[in-house]
Amino acid sequence: MTQDELKQAVALAALDYVKHKLTRDSVIGIGTGSTANCFIDALVKYRDEFRGCVSSSEASAERLRRHGIEVFDLNSTGTFDIYVDGADEANPRLELVKGGGAALTREKIVAACAREFVCIADESKWVETLGRFPLPVEVIPMARSHVARELVKLGGDPVYRTGVVTDNGNVILDVHHLHITSPRLLEEKINNITGVVCNGLFALRPADVLLLGRQSGVETLRARD
Ligand code: 5RP
Repeated sequence: MTQDELKQAVALAALDYVKHKLTRDSVIGIGTGSTANCFIDALVKYRDEFRGCVSSSEASAERLRRHGIEVFDLNSTGTFDIYVDGADEANPRLELVKGGGAALTREKIVAACAREFVCIADESKWVETLGRFPLPVEVIPMARSHVARELVKLGGDPVYRTGVVTDNGNVILDVHHLHITSPRLLEEKINNITGVVCNGLFALRPADVLLLGRQSGVETLRARD
């Protein structure tokens, strides 16, 4: 199977996982990226069986609306049952690196409000140690150089993602060459740098379930301590 076919397979597996939990009042949190897009497209079939979605990006919100699925403001929904999103990396504790699509801050906010976070990813995203994928950090524009210097002190090699402005009006630094052995600690440290809005480590709030698309089929993984 190609990578795109694996993404389709995990999206369908997520639909299978979610559909049994849906009621007319259900709100589903929706992530961002090509795997999340596969899930959005698959969800259409069930659009009359739940209330609507909250979205982690303008792009996903637009796609949902095009499909006739209502998108709610997170402030009006409160906590909700389930969030489905992709990842750039996942480890055996289901800690993630996210933000390849620059939506990390809203993704983290939506994940924080979900009782269950279902991550969907093809096998290329599976790692023992996070850090192969450059870690995205969303930064207030005027703090970009300051934050970059602080990230160098943490052992990283930050690169400004040129031409990208997040949905929140900020910029992204992609931090290369990190070997992330203590993801929770690093997540906190980076969050404490003045000027950082959010970083792409999802370790303090990891996924609860990972549907991992392998050539041999979709595996359902829960966090291993
Ligand atoms: C966007 C994300 C995505 O979930 C991540 O980049 C994976 O994307 P894709 O499903 O296209 O591989 O974090 O900010």
